[in-house]
Amino acid sequence: MGKEIYAMIKIKNLKLKNRFLLAPMLEPNDIAFRMLSKKSGCALTYTGMTSPLSQKEIILDDRPAIQIFANSEEGIEDFIKKYDKKVKLWDLNLGCPSDLSKKLGHGAFLKDIIIIERIIKKMRSSTKKPITIKIRKTKIAFKILKIAEKYVDAIAIHPRTISQGYSGEPDYEFALKIKKATLLPVIFSGNVNKKNVSKILNDFDFVFIGREAIGNPKIFSELIGKNSKITFSQYLKLAKKYNLPFRQIKYQAMNFTKGIRAAKKARKELISVKNIKDIESKQIF
Ligand SMILES: Cc1cc2nc3c(=O)[nH]c(=O)nc-3n(C[C@H](O)[C@H](O)[C@H](O)COP(=O)(O)O)c2cc1C
Repeated sequence: MGKEIYAMIKIKNLKLKNRFLLAPMLEPNDIAFRMLSKKSGCALTYTGMTSPLSQKEIILDDRPAIQIFANSEEGIEDFIKKYDKKVKLWDLNLGCPSDLSKKLGHGAFLKDIIIIERIIKKMRSSTKKPITIKIRKTKIAFKILKIAEKYVDAIAIHPRTISQGYSGEPDYEFALKIKKATLLPVIFSGNVNKKNVSKILNDFDFVFIGREAIGNPKIFSELIGKNSKITFSQYLKLAKKYNLPFRQIKYQAMNFTKGIRAAKKARKELISVKNIKDIESKQIF
């Protein structure tokens, strides 16, 4: 990658050490996984989408971006004030295509521009930290962009439609149109991998690494050309430290079989595990 690519790596006043960010992902991005992604070299981790009305304590040792989802301003100010010192950045999810988002009218289903503006404005008045928003390919994407430009510091585009969900080709041309339409830094999301990342970073400012990082946080060290040892044992150590529920640890164990030989056999063996000792005794990793 050319030197110029690293010329200005900033979102507002937040300096970032490279342009590889961990995409917001609800299930995979637990604190242990985020810590490991950071260790691997990821410049900024995002939490999965989080309700500002949630009372659950969020561990923020990785100094992440917290992604919120909302269909009104309710609770946003208090939520931001509660965690503001411990985060690097705030993000608003305007892209979630799930049935729950449909039911509650948030994510990609929040289509009322006036409410979107109220939410973003509330975020802006609650923090001096940088703010990003994450959008999809929708009819109102450019309208949102125009509003966002008044308040936010970067925009993330996952150029798939709501009905595409997470499959089918991301519409690269659509994302380029967003990039051309704004002076804000643009984060590209959608099937970013080791092969296509150089090209994408010629066109966009940052990339979100999503599914490629699931079970494989090592990808960040590979992307920055560093040879770090990132393993499931390290995940397990962190998961124990943070007292993560066993079902989450088992889910991640399944994910981490991705890169290993005889992955199918390993997954089969993992189905029946009941505790951490069971996982360790399988000697899979
Ligand atoms: C398991 C999973 C959970 C996700 N959760 C979120 C989320 O909470 N918020 C969000 O904005 N996007 C979420 N996404 C979407 C990703 O951030 C990303 O935009 C999408 O997966 C496309 O990127 P990829 O091809 O690199 O995975 C999720 C994706 C996956 C696979």
